[in-house]
Amino acid sequence: MRAPAKINLHLGVGAPREDGFHSLVTVYQAVGLYDDVTARMAPDWSLGVSLPDWMDDDAVPLAGDNIVDRAADLLAAHHGVERLGEVHIAKAIPVAGGMAGGSADGAAALVALDRLWGLNTTDEDLLALAAQLGSDVPFALLGGTALGTGRGELVTPVHDRGTWWWVVVPSDVGLPTPEVYRHFDKMFPDAPTEPVPADALLGAIASGDTWALADALHNDLEAAAIDLRPELGRLIEQGEQAGALRGLVSGSGPTCVFLCGSADHARSLAADLSGAGHPVVLAANGPVSGAHLVSYA
Ligand code: C5P
Repeated sequence: MRAPAKINLHLGVGAPREDGFHSLVTVYQAVGLYDDVTARMAPDWSLGVSLPDWMDDDAVPLAGDNIVDRAADLLAAHHGVERLGEVHIAKAIPVAGGMAGGSADGAAALVALDRLWGLNTTDEDLLALAAQLGSDVPFALLGGTALGTGRGELVTPVHDRGTWWWVVVPSDVGLPTPEVYRHFDKMFPDAPTEPVPADALLGAIASGDTWALADALHNDLEAAAIDLRPELGRLIEQGEQAGALRGLVSGSGPTCVFLCGSADHARSLAADLSGAGHPVVLAANGPVSGAHLVSYA
């Protein structure tokens, strides 16, 4: 299974709810950076992870604590079957980066194990299990461009005929999502119950115009992420000075993304930022498919 990273094109955050989660109005876009999850039959349960050179070895939680373990437990319990299999995650999505890499692995594992165990879980049940795993796991199943409400888990596809180009700059140290939300609460104790609506962003997507999209990008968590990591503000400025149509923090950060006008523009901006001393700079386009099967044997 292959599962994509996401960017939040719009992230409107409301005051915390009674359950501690924040109500969101968000527009997700799946972009072409992928984790691959492989599942094989085995007499017991095991999980392995491989990372690209540029990723920190300690970054991914193992030892029973990975979202893939939890996905397997949920699916097995739902059907009353035993959790058996040998699962491997090949990571490429930045860890703790605001791009839902863990959620991608969780979504891919649900679908992979459903196949492996021959369960034929309905899409509706898979989405419900995904929502139990995390707020943006249902989107990782759906992919494309989608509106997210509730705590982000209620997803509706958005018609998007564009191909949008992004330069992605991960940070070498991750930022835990709960910490960014806590900082948001401290900075904005009077946040409105209802999050900022996504109308402007949806209008820009419908127009197909890259400059309109650049103007409409919105992230309520950006100020909190930049307050925790002031270098992110400097990175965004640097990317915009180097010609990005717009730079912004991806989700809760610290990955920053830069909108470009074309594939060539993205490649040239990536080369500039890389030359300016950022060790890892990636280019990706969206929207792309959600978690999907790439080979079956
Ligand atoms: O749902 P998920 O496990 O991805 O959420 C991780 C953490 O992010 C939550 O424990 C919570 O601190 C924060 N969060 C939030 N409101 C949301 C989504 C996430 O406060 N809508």
